[in-house]
This record gives sequence, structure tokens and C-alpha cells, in this order.
Amino acid sequence: MAEHDEHSSFIKTPQQLIVIVLLAFVVPIAGIVLTVQLVLSRPSADPAALKPEAVAARIQPVGKVEFGAAGAAAAKSAEDNVKEVCAACHQAGVANAPKLGDKAAWAPRLKLGLDGMLQAVIKGKGAMPPRAGTSLTDQELASAVVLMANQAGGKLKEPAAPKK
Ligand code: HEC
Repeated sequence: MAEHDEHSSFIKTPQQLIVIVLLAFVVPIAGIVLTVQLVLSRPSADPAALKPEAVAARIQPVGKVEFGAAGAAAAKSAEDNVKEVCAACHQAGVANAPKLGDKAAWAPRLKLGLDGMLQAVIKGKGAMPPRAGTSLTDQELASAVVLMANQAGGKLKEPAAPKK
């Protein structure tokens, strides 16, 4: 039977043929399964990283300016507010602001009474921006007005706490 061996093959027995045929199926399937696993388990970007807050936190500016410490003003006393906000203009009399403790400058204003002066601060007057450029409450502004007015000879009473 030598004529059958002219293309010699490494498959000599039916068992070997069975093994080869099985491998011909199993090897590509295993390859496909491993490839699918590789794709599915690939580490993906953290979805939380795309939330607006996370993005904002990443691109936030290096520094922030808080004018008149408006954000933290709620817990501040009238003294703090006058010192940190109002004094910026009223200490030196910037743009004709009545100076702290200057009785002559304050005398005509005292006649307006607390309400009159408070309205001027809330609406703004001359070079003073509305609410003196802060987000202080009416109550806080009123306390600051009382303090400043009384430093200049006024006899205003501390305004009553706002009713809620
Ligand atoms: C940006 C500068 C500036 C700041 C800050 C400022 N003021 Fe004034 N303020 C002025 C100027 C200028 C006037 C004078 C306005 C005018 O008579 O034309 C004035 C006037 C006033 C008057 C008199 C208003 C009137 O009817 O004549 C009061 C009261 C007053 N300020 C309170 C305050 C208080 C309280 C604060 C802080 C919470 C404050 N100001 C912060 C500039 C400022």
C-alpha cells in the first residue's frame, strides 16, 4: 500500500484525526472567547468623572476673590462688617463718603433717621453701590448703619431682629 503514502501526513490513525478535528474547532472558539473577554473587561472611564460637579471641580479656577467676604458674612458682627466692608470707603472718605466718626459729615445724614440712611445703603447713593456691593441682609446693613451713625454722634437704637 505504498502508493497511499506518497503525500505523507502526520495523521496516521483515526484517533489522531479525531483529535485534529476537535482542535480545529476548539482552538478558534477559545480564541474568540478570550478576545470577547478582553474587550468586555477592558477598564472603561469612570462614569462619575463626567458628572457636571466632577468636571467643575477639575476645571475650577486657581483662586477666587470674595468681595466684602459676602459668603461668610452671615455670622459676622456689625463691627466686622463695618471694618471689612464699609470702612473701605468710609474710613478715608473715598468719593465723599462721610468718614467714620466725622460728626459734621454725619449730622445731616442722621436727620434722615435709620430708615432713610438704610434706604440709601440698600439702593445705593452717589459712589456707594446698592447694598454697598455686598450680599448682606437688610438687618446686617441696618446694624452697620447704626454702628457708624452712633460713632459720629448719632443715638440710634439697634434695629429689632427681623420677624420670621
Ligand atoms: C464703595 C464705597 C462705599 C462703601 C463700600 C460703603 N459706602 Fe456708604 N457711602 C459711600 C459714599 C460715597 C457715600 C456718600 C453718598 C452721597 O452722599 O452721595 C456713602 C454714604 C453712606 C451713608 C449716608 C447715606 C445718605 O443718605 O447720605 C450711609 C448711612 C452709608 N454710606 C452706610 C454704609 C454702610 C453701612 C456700608 C457698609 C455696609 C457702606 N456705607 C459702605 C461709599 C461707600
